[in-house]
Amino acid sequence: MRKLKWVLFVGLGVMVIMAALALAKTPNTVKKAKLTTERGAKLYNVHCAACHGVDLEGGMAGSLKDGQWTYAKSVNEIKNLIKNGNADVGMPAFKDQLTNEDISALHTFITSTGQKKTKAATQANQASHDLINTNIWMDDLDTPWSLVFTGKNTALLTEKRGDLYQIIDGKLSMAPVDGIPKVNSKGQGGLLDVAIDPDYEMNKWVYLSFSHQLETGAVLNMTKIVRGHIKDGKWQDEQVLFAAQPEHYIKTHHHYGSRITFDDKGHMFFSVGERGRKDMAQDITRPNGKIHRLMRDGTVPKDNPFVNKTDAYPSIFSYGNRNPQGLVFTGGRLWETEHGPKGGDELNLIKSGANYGWPVISYGRNYSGTELTPYTNMEGMEQPISQWTPSIAACGLDVISGEMFSKWNGYLLAGALKYKELRLIKLRDGEYVSEQILLKDKGRVRDVTIGPDGAIYVILNKPGQILRLTPGIGYGAL
Ligand code: HEC
Repeated sequence: MRKLKWVLFVGLGVMVIMAALALAKTPNTVKKAKLTTERGAKLYNVHCAACHGVDLEGGMAGSLKDGQWTYAKSVNEIKNLIKNGNADVGMPAFKDQLTNEDISALHTFITSTGQKKTKAATQANQASHDLINTNIWMDDLDTPWSLVFTGKNTALLTEKRGDLYQIIDGKLSMAPVDGIPKVNSKGQGGLLDVAIDPDYEMNKWVYLSFSHQLETGAVLNMTKIVRGHIKDGKWQDEQVLFAAQPEHYIKTHHHYGSRITFDDKGHMFFSVGERGRKDMAQDITRPNGKIHRLMRDGTVPKDNPFVNKTDAYPSIFSYGNRNPQGLVFTGGRLWETEHGPKGGDELNLIKSGANYGWPVISYGRNYSGTELTPYTNMEGMEQPISQWTPSIAACGLDVISGEMFSKWNGYLLAGALKYKELRLIKLRDGEYVSEQILLKDKGRVRDVTIGPDGAIYVILNKPGQILRLTPGIGYGAL
C-alpha cells in the first residue's frame, strides 16, 4: 500500500513536470516557427517575388501557391531546386546567395503559405499573367534615350546620336530641334536625358544632359547639363547649368550617368557616372561617380553638404555612386538606381552627403568574375535599399501616379536593359517591400515615364520603340 502511494506520488510528479515542460516548450516552438516563416517571407520578397509574384501567385514564373508541383515535390527536391536551379526551365541557382538555413526558411514560408489556397488566390493567379496590356505607341526610332511629356498630347524625345524631337499625338516632328549642343555619341555617350522644369507651364525651360567633348587637344568627355527654350523648332536662350572643370574631363566613352530630376523645393538633381574610373567615385574633388544638386538656374544651394570643403565640387550631394541611370524624387525622397559591375545593381535612397561605397563595397564582382572587393558593407557607407545580383542593368526610374494605375500609386517602375524588363517595386515609408516583373523580353528598357493620361510609357533602346502600357484584365482582378 505504501509502495503504491509512493509510485502514484512519483508518477504524478513526473506528469506535472512533463506538463510544465510542454507548456514551456509550446510557445517557444511556435515562436521559432513564426520567426522562420518571417525570415522566409523576407528572403522570398528579395529573391523570388520578381518571378513568382508578390503573393506567390505567379507572374513570369509559375505559382508556388496552387499546390501543384511540377519540378520539385519532396522537401529535398524543393530545397535542391532552390540551391542548384534548373537552367532548362529558367529557375536560377541560389547556392551562392543563400545559406542552407535561408533555403529551409524559404521552404517553410512557401509551403506554409501554399496551404492557405483560397478561391480568390486562384483567381489572382490566373489573372496576374495579364496585369497589363502592351501596345506599340511609336516605332522605328533610332536609339531613343529619354521621353518627357510636355502636355496632354505633346512630348520631347532624345535620340542618342544627338537629336531632340518634338512629339505631337504620338508622331515625331518632321525635323529635330535645331541648334541643340553638339554631343559625342561614341560608346555610351550621346544626347541623353531630357526633363522639363516643374514650372514648365510658366517658364518653358527644357533641361538636357549629354556627353560633352572638349574642343581642344585629345578627345576628352564629361557629362554636361544645359537648359533652353524651344521656339519655332529652334533651341534658344541656352544656359549652361553644369560643366566640369576641363582638367576633370576623361577620355573614356562610358558611365555618364546623366539622369535629371527635381524636388519640390527648387532643386535640380542629376547623376554623373564614374566614367570608368572607379576610384574617383570616392574623391569629392572630382565630379564623376556622384549625384549632384543645384538650384534650377545652376547656382549652388548654400546647404549642399560639401560647400565648405576646399577643392570639393560644391554641387556634390552624394558620392561613391557607380553609374546611376535612374533618378526620381517622390514623397520627399530621392530614389536612384545604378548599374553594378557583374552583379550588385542597386536601388538607393539618396541622402545629403552620404557615401554609397563604390568601389570600396559592392555586391558585384569584376566582369571577369574575379573578386572586386571583399566587402559588401562598411561603417560610414550606405547600404542599398535593395540590390540585383545578377545584374539586370537597371536603367530608367519613375513613380506611378494618376488614376489609371491608382492601386499602385507611389510604387516605383524600374527599367532593365540587359534583362529586358520593367519592374514594379512596392515601397512603404521609404522601405523596400517587394517587386514584380511587369514586362519581359520586349526589348532593352532604357527609360520609363508616366504619361499625363496615367499610362506607363516604356522606351526601348532596341528595337527603337516606345510601348504604352495600360491595365489588363489581371489588374482589375487584383
Ligand atoms: C528569374 C526568375 C526566377 C526567380 C528569381 C526564381 N524562380 Fe523559381 N522558378 C522559375 C521558373 C521559370 C521555374 C519553372 C517552373 C515555373 O514556371 O514555375 C521555377 C520553379 C520553381 C519551383 C518549382 C515549382 C514547381 O512547380 O515544381 C520552386 C519551388 C521555385 N521555383 C522556388 C523559387 C524560390 C524559393 C525562389 C527564390 C529564392 C525562386 N524560385 C526564384 C523562375 C524563377
